[in-house]
Amino acid sequence: MDTILEVKHLKVAFRTTGGTLKAVRDISFDLKKGKTLAIVGESGSGKSVTSRAIMGILAGNAIVEGGEIFFDGKDLMHISENEMQKIRGDKISMIFQDPLSSLNPIVQIGPQITEATLLKNRTSRHEAKREFNSMLSELKSNMKAAAPAEDQAKIDQAVDELNRFISEATRMESKFNASMENVQAAAIAIDDIKYRVGKAPVDLKSSLHKVTEKLKRVNDPFAIGKNQTALDECRQTLDRLAQTGEKLGEGKDVALPEKTEAALDSASALLRGILNEERPDFVAISYYLQHHPHEQLSQLPVQQLNAETEQALDAGFMQSFYEKMEKGVAYSENKALENKRKILPKLKAEMEYYRGEFTHRDALRRSRELSKDVKGCIDRLEVNKDNAAYAFDSSMTGAINRFFYVKAHNPKEEARFARQSARRSRLIARGKNVTWKVVPKNVYDLEDLRGNITNIVSRLDEHFTESVNSESRADLHARCLNIMDYLKKRASQMVARVTKTMARERALQLMEEVGINNPRERFNQYPFEFSGGMRQRIVIAIALAADPDILICDEPTTALDVTIQAQILELINKLKAERNLSIIFITHDLGVVANMADDIAVMYAGKIVEYGTAEEVFYAPAHPYTWALLASMPDLETKEKLEAIPGTPPNMIYPPKGDAFADRNRYAMQIDFEQQPPEFPVSDTHWAATWLLHPYAPKSEPPKAVTERIAKMKARLEEQAHA
Ligand SMILES: Nc1ncnc2c1ncn2[C@@H]1O[C@H](COP(=O)(O)OP(=O)(O)O)[C@@H](O)[C@H]1O
Ligand SMILES: [Mg+2]
Repeated sequence: MDTILEVKHLKVAFRTTGGTLKAVRDISFDLKKGKTLAIVGESGSGKSVTSRAIMGILAGNAIVEGGEIFFDGKDLMHISENEMQKIRGDKISMIFQDPLSSLNPIVQIGPQITEATLLKNRTSRHEAKREFNSMLSELKSNMKAAAPAEDQAKIDQAVDELNRFISEATRMESKFNASMENVQAAAIAIDDIKYRVGKAPVDLKSSLHKVTEKLKRVNDPFAIGKNQTALDECRQTLDRLAQTGEKLGEGKDVALPEKTEAALDSASALLRGILNEERPDFVAISYYLQHHPHEQLSQLPVQQLNAETEQALDAGFMQSFYEKMEKGVAYSENKALENKRKILPKLKAEMEYYRGEFTHRDALRRSRELSKDVKGCIDRLEVNKDNAAYAFDSSMTGAINRFFYVKAHNPKEEARFARQSARRSRLIARGKNVTWKVVPKNVYDLEDLRGNITNIVSRLDEHFTESVNSESRADLHARCLNIMDYLKKRASQMVARVTKTMARERALQLMEEVGINNPRERFNQYPFEFSGGMRQRIVIAIALAADPDILICDEPTTALDVTIQAQILELINKLKAERNLSIIFITHDLGVVANMADDIAVMYAGKIVEYGTAEEVFYAPAHPYTWALLASMPDLETKEKLEAIPGTPPNMIYPPKGDAFADRNRYAMQIDFEQQPPEFPVSDTHWAATWLLHPYAPKSEPPKAVTERIAKMKARLEEQAHA
């Protein structure tokens, strides 16, 4: 399963007047592509802090005490704000509990969604071009390195040819896009006419003229060819209507004549039909046309066109190309493996080094040198980036600097504390009424910070050891296909220019997609004119405008009433499936995620206490805190009374030594108060941090309320399965 986001050993604290509050205390989890990970826990357990750390929007008084967040070969904890901005909202979007906080109250919602769509497009085109070029040149150099001397020229030629027909393909695609944009604009204009009638006077003749002007700009052979009939038919309809020369709605509230409306509808439907058609495979077509320059392909139906040109490409070019490519891919893989083998002893030595005494300069110099070697261990033809290796340099530099920052700054902190305390005592001694407090000393655990450094090295060590020892190598041909898909996708992204008209249309589509009825009607309304549920839908539309890979939902339904809640959950589920989104869903209510989550992390007092698939956490929960959550879950069907969790979470300025839940846990043993439980595995995918799972612990069952509830849930599940 592909992992899209990895959180490793994240630790976040806050400077407060009462002391340093430990909000997130060393949590790690993976988000898998196309899956929903739910983070569940009571208020204050650190869920929002975790999500804000991922987005790089922690409050000013936050102290990141350690950890890495890997995404797309980058360590989000250690990249510049500039780089973070490209990721935030573009690749990772977030929605909050209160939709109003994400909306501009004085801008209509349509323009807000449109703007969000426009913003992202510029940067992503540049990025795509850069990625395309770097992958292609990497591919070429590896293919050449793997080939005998007499084949060098052949490889140059082959890569050149590939580059040639891909760039011709992007040129064609760009032209096609421009034509389609006019079809789209024409469809929008028709809908606008229908929308305006009855609200303002409409001169049908000149309005329709504008539509036909747009249709005249449909001039790409592939956009016209297959759609000739539909386009002709649409034009005829429009001409016929224009000839009537109707002026409509001089007075208000005049309805569109039925016949006119029907004609407009059919014209619009024809255009939307064209928009919804399968797109030509321009890479294949481009190859075909370079070898059959006089062929007239544009008349063929799209499916036939795609099938024939793809076949020609496979037979004529791809087969021989893949043969050379496989050697290059294998070469790159082996080179990376060999370098990994070489670096392993070095990593061990490095861990030793950071366990001893070292100076800042020396540590940075060593880590830079090591980073160079680590770069050599990266197989750059791997489409899914090896995050730990790519981000090694920035993670190490960050962790080392933090260690020395704290070391160097602690004396200052001591001085501040002494100065302020003295001043306070002086004032009190003079009988002044002192209302302010002194912020307690910020004490860091240097060993902990040292651990952050060695963690990074040891993780890489484990990771490399595993890949050196693993027997099964990926199927070379499958990898070649992956690389080719990657190149095609980037090529297509390079030309996906979004204009204002398209962005507007996309905004309307998004509004429809998130379930806002009459989007045209509502386009120009202000946020206050919508209900809470509708506002949350708008926020979701804005979050989706940039077509992100990851959506973080922080209590998105908490402020909504129950029926609306269910609708929003359903919407999020639908979007996940349709867009292959990866979702982090945060909630204090375990009941909410029953039909949402693939995996669940249960959080308590800044730690993950249980982690597993949704099934495991719901039907075989192992941590007493999860039991308590299950027992307190409102049951919508039976309206059973809740069993609130007794007691309150601990004060996180002084986190407990042992299991933080011990105080509230009626199964607690002596050791729970003394020692942090490790993560005990329950299955390959399920673990819980509770001493109850220790082999020497007395056997204990969840409370009856929980087992009964589980039985009930299971029964319901079976019912559903039978129904
Ligand atoms: N900016 C801040 N300053 C001080 N403490 C904070 C700040 N933000 C969050 N906290 C504290 O961090 C802990 C975790 O908060 P949070 O992640 O918001 O909890 P939740 O799980 O409810 O989302 C809480 O104790 C909260 O009071
Ligand atoms: Mg929260």
